[in-house]
Parts: sequence; structure tokens; C-alpha cells
Amino acid sequence: MGRVITIDGPAASGKTSVSRELARRLGWSWVSTGAFYRGLAYTAKRLNLNLDDESQLSELSRSDSWKVEMTESRTRVLFGDEDVTDHITHEDIGSIASKISHFPQVRESLLEGQRDCRERTEGLVAEGRDCGTVVFPDAEIKIFLTARSENRAERRAKELGLEKEEMAKAQQIRDQQDSTRKTAPLSVPESALVVDTTEMSFHEVVQIIEDFVKARI
Ligand code: DC
Repeated sequence: MGRVITIDGPAASGKTSVSRELARRLGWSWVSTGAFYRGLAYTAKRLNLNLDDESQLSELSRSDSWKVEMTESRTRVLFGDEDVTDHITHEDIGSIASKISHFPQVRESLLEGQRDCRERTEGLVAEGRDCGTVVFPDAEIKIFLTARSENRAERRAKELGLEKEEMAKAQQIRDQQDSTRKTAPLSVPESALVVDTTEMSFHEVVQIIEDFVKARI
């Protein structure tokens, strides 16, 4: 079982790109746990499931009709044999993911797959909302990334070619849902290094975190 570093934070705080680059520099595996929620959201939508039905969603989360795979550059989602990773990045799938992620049964069913990512690795960098608090509470290093909401909306709107205002609204709803849900809400893990990336470049953020990590492992 490998060592673990967790990076949590709100929507579009830079978790994915920063954690992936950190893993590359350390030569460790990397997983975006949001892919589990997005993958389930995509599959449920594709199968026309009732998105309010917790037990159906939880059953689907354990079914082998879809799965998540780690690669160096992407956390892939497969629906049957079909690679649907490109489809899960859309903000409408992010919104469904956020909505269904408040169901305790769904979270519980997805936990095992997320924890398994640590098996057969020397080390794992895991990013999400509850990686440091619930998925890997014993992680040796925990980071919490944040940034001003306008900057986050601008970043993601650029990436997806959407209007900034529309993106800001969608992210606000998602952040509100993710931070106020009863089970495993987005929160800063105890002892986490908090990095506000608002005024920093991608390379500065990675460097700060890499220095912090290398001084400790
Ligand atoms: O990080 P992301 O944008 O890919 O995550 C999509 C949604 O999935 C997010 O709004 C809430 C949910 N999620 C979660 O509840 N817990 C995680 N560890 C990761 C994601």
C-alpha cells in the first residue's frame, strides 16, 4: 500500500493540474476522485435514472457497467468499453455530480474504488473534496487549494469556452452544495497546508507544494 498526499479544494481551484504535475515530479500515481462522481453522474444520465433515487444511484455506483481507470494524464471513465472521459468534463455533468454526491449511500459505495487507487503504488496523489478528511484520513501530507471565486470562474470558463458569468453562477451553486452537505462536506483537513492560488502562476503553486512535500517525505 502506497504513501498518500491529498489535495482538496473547491471547483476550479487548480487541484487537477497541480496534483497531476506534483505526481509526475514525484513519480507517483495520481487520481482525481471527482471522476468517480462525474462518471456516476454521466452513467446515470445516460441510463435515464432518477437523479433523486439514492438507492438506485448507489446500486449503479457498485455496478460493473462503468469504471474508473488511472493513467498519468487523465483519470479515465469507461462506460462499458466506451471511453467517456471527454464527456464528463462538462459543467452540466459537474452539477449532476455535485447533486448526487450529497447522498451518503452513494459516497459510501464509491469509497472503496477510491481507496483501491493506493494499492500497488509507491505513492498516490489524490485530489477532490474529502480526500484528506474521509478517503485518506491517514495521508502523510494534506494540501488545501483555494482561490477567489471570480478567478476560478474565469479559469474554468476559458478552459471550456463558456461565459464567465454563467460559469460563476454554476460554480457558486456547486461550491455551496459541496460545502454544506451533511456527509463529507468540502472542508480544510486538520494540519493541511492551505494555498491561495489567486495571485500565483501554475508553476509557482506547484513549486511551493513540491518544496513543502520534499521537505517532509
Ligand atoms: O472535482 P470535480 O469538479 O471533478 O468534482 C465534481 C463533483 O463531484 C463536485 O462538485 C462534488 C463531487 N466530489 C465529491 O463530492 N467528493 C470528491 N472527493 C470529489 C468530487
